[in-house]
Amino acid sequence: WISLGTASLAIFLIILGISAVHGGHTPAASGIETIHPEHIREDPRFSEPGLKEATEGDHDYDLYFIASAFMYEPGEVDIPAGSTVKIHVTSPDVVHGFQVVGTNINMMAEPGLISTYEMTFDEPGEHLIVCNEYCGVGHTDMTSKIKVV
Ligand code: CUA
Repeated sequence: WISLGTASLAIFLIILGISAVHGGHTPAASGIETIHPEHIREDPRFSEPGLKEATEGDHDYDLYFIASAFMYEPGEVDIPAGSTVKIHVTSPDVVHGFQVVGTNINMMAEPGLISTYEMTFDEPGEHLIVCNEYCGVGHTDMTSKIKVV
């Protein structure tokens, strides 16, 4: 029975390996942009994270966030009501969460990758941003805020 279990595990890992490498089932291969975690601050988009007017695409603004232990940058951001915003999040250290309370936005912030989500903020109000991936001792203090004004 042990050799049967070992064999099925080996088959499973081989299938997983083949699908990841040849099937393109990796984040980078599915079109998610990569960024070197140590060089985030040198990237003009993330050197001053925050709201920037969009230069391409149908959305009005790009909003760049850095999620690190144990804070978000920016710690708070104002968004004009009615605008469509493409949010970009990455991490220089470990995996963090990026959940915007009261919206459908719930992403992972992963070192090496830029997660994105496009959203129109119609109603004025405040949205708390929380980390929902356990990232260390300061996990519960890791918050930011989107103010739709
Ligand atoms: Cu960052 Cu939990």
